[in-house]
Amino acid sequence: MSKHALITGITGQDGAYLSQLLLNKGYEVHGLLARRGSDTLWRLRELGIEGQVKLIDGDLMDLSSLIRALQVSKADEVYNLGAQSFVGTSWQQPVLTAQVDGVGAVNVLEAVRIVNPQARFYQASTSEMFGLIQAEKQDEKTPFYPRSPYGVAKLMAHWATVNYRESHGLHASSGILFNHESPLRGIEFVTRKVSHAAASIKLGLQKELRLGNIDAKRDWGFAGDYVEAMWLMLQQDKADDYVIATGTTTTVRDMCEIAFAHVGLKAQDHVVVDERYFRPAEVDVLLGNPAKARAELGWEPKTSLAQLIAMMVEADLRRIGAIKE
Ligand code: NAP
Ligand code: GDD
Repeated sequence: MSKHALITGITGQDGAYLSQLLLNKGYEVHGLLARRGSDTLWRLRELGIEGQVKLIDGDLMDLSSLIRALQVSKADEVYNLGAQSFVGTSWQQPVLTAQVDGVGAVNVLEAVRIVNPQARFYQASTSEMFGLIQAEKQDEKTPFYPRSPYGVAKLMAHWATVNYRESHGLHASSGILFNHESPLRGIEFVTRKVSHAAASIKLGLQKELRLGNIDAKRDWGFAGDYVEAMWLMLQQDKADDYVIATGTTTTVRDMCEIAFAHVGLKAQDHVVVDERYFRPAEVDVLLGNPAKARAELGWEPKTSLAQLIAMMVEADLRRIGAIKE
């Protein structure tokens, strides 16, 4: 009998890659569809799996729709990936971010507890919770210090996950994932903004790229590698929390150089720093220590930053080239 999974945020970057991974493992994959925009299924289509997942209407802010999704999907594993995930927007929409990213996670935990407390639960926690870092390399024991309404909301969800594990005995795990990117990344995030601009400038459609704080450092990995860690967490006998990262950090400035060099250009000739993109409070540097995940899950990142950025620029060259023709 195949296992059943329910994914909130199935139309997002990670939802698409996780769906692909679970389908390849023989799962019946259900996804919560919030129907909030046009063409939200493009990522599932790009991976060629749009017709293979079963979509259930619902919203993280609507507990009754989550209870129904748990009942309809008969899920053995629930992955809560849905979120208002763009840090910049969280200052403009702090209440919505708190509701979707914080209360939304509690709603999913409640639905699991009410419908099937035996189901295993994964919470998409984030390195943004470390914010103003309290240790040079962040691991599961590093104290949190969120710097954005997004980070604050995610911290609530993280502790709710720990609390449901400890007070209700749920198999609830929290993956503290550092930044992970892919050709399916939303255009508002910096790596995709850069890969798209490098491709557009190469093809003569754009001249400059306006960015904010290019001295910020991030520990960037490939989303395809990171969804494997999510699945591994739910296969363990005991639920727990794990940092998932590469263990190397790079400035936005150097990441731009990698992207532009891939198309034979120099980033410094095109990047313009624009204060409009600065944030009210910045997370200057993130650098994760994935030693626990390596030891207990046997998880390792497989894709280097250079490979990842090359993959993203190539995908944007293809997409933009196809529109131009
Ligand atoms: P993403 O591409 O922005 O996807 C977010 C998903 O959440 C989309 O499917 C979106 O649906 C859905 N969603 C938004 N509001 C919702 C609501 N009210 N009800 C139901 N669904 C809703 O994010 P991602 O990069 O795949 O990240 C997946 C998760 O991991 C997120 O929780 C994110 O915060 C977290 N995370 C991401 C990273 C990273 O670097 N990518 C790192 C750490 C943690 P629409 O398609 O309708 O917008
Ligand atoms: N988006 C964006 N746009 N970021 C810029 C820009 C710009 O024009 N210029 C500089 N940056 C800097 C941001 O200030 C930040 O320091 C860094 O680039 C990365 O920004 P994002 O790509 O927007 O990602 P993030 O680190 O804020 O958040 C992502 O990673 C988190 C995990 O640490 C998101 O995926 C979150 O959902 C995730 O939790």
